[in-house]
Amino acid sequence: MRLDKLLEQEKIGSKRKVKALIKSKQVCVDGRTILDESLNVDASLQEVVVGGRKIENQTHVYYMLNKPQGIVTAVKDAKHQTVIDLIEPNDQRSGLYPVGRLDRDTEGLLLITDNGQLGYQLLLPHKKVLKRYEVIVNEPLTKADQIAFEKGIVFSDGEICKAAELIILTSSTNESRAYLDITEGKFHQVKKMFLSVGKKVTYLKRITMGPLVLDDTLALGQYRPLNQQELTSLLPYFTIHKKEKSLENEI
Ligand code: URA
Repeated sequence: MRLDKLLEQEKIGSKRKVKALIKSKQVCVDGRTILDESLNVDASLQEVVVGGRKIENQTHVYYMLNKPQGIVTAVKDAKHQTVIDLIEPNDQRSGLYPVGRLDRDTEGLLLITDNGQLGYQLLLPHKKVLKRYEVIVNEPLTKADQIAFEKGIVFSDGEICKAAELIILTSSTNESRAYLDITEGKFHQVKKMFLSVGKKVTYLKRITMGPLVLDDTLALGQYRPLNQQELTSLLPYFTIHKKEKSLENEI
């Protein structure tokens, strides 16, 4: 949540007063004086102090979901159950949404939060947030595939993918397993990359996204709140740089 919105919500004062407090260097986040009223903050993760007073506020929720197949990555869907439908009524919040998208037949790690700015930051292409997928394909995997992925796959419509790392786990005539590390989030990207080297993905699971690693004690369809260490690891994605702010304004 924006710093100015948090302070208004906490009844620190009117919009004008909050602006004045920030300008007069009376607002600190984790010990740093903040002059940027649009900074994304979460008072449950960071220490927000105004004129010496600490703000106590459970601003946002963050859940790690192990998405099962058959569920759509959307907030609402006319035909199918959505990932938000998997969240228990007690854990529901307005504004809850999935960060990024997994296909209906893809399993694995999905971050669900009501912190819109965080999701925006994690998906910015220049942040190059690394995602690792576990992949099964219907053909052998080769050194030539690894080289092609490393050079950057070009889709048939000319779209170019950034360099990706293919780690082959097993390879045989009709079934091979691998990890694929990518830093983008193009539509159906992993499936299309393998198709470009003539292989069909038969199983896909995301196991990491940035600093988050899928908790393998979570059964398919289960979720849990992020723990303190995971929340702390996301803090670098809370900072918005000037260039990104102007981009955000354009959207
Ligand atoms: N790439 C895909 O092709 N599908 C997904 O669900 C995620 C990445």
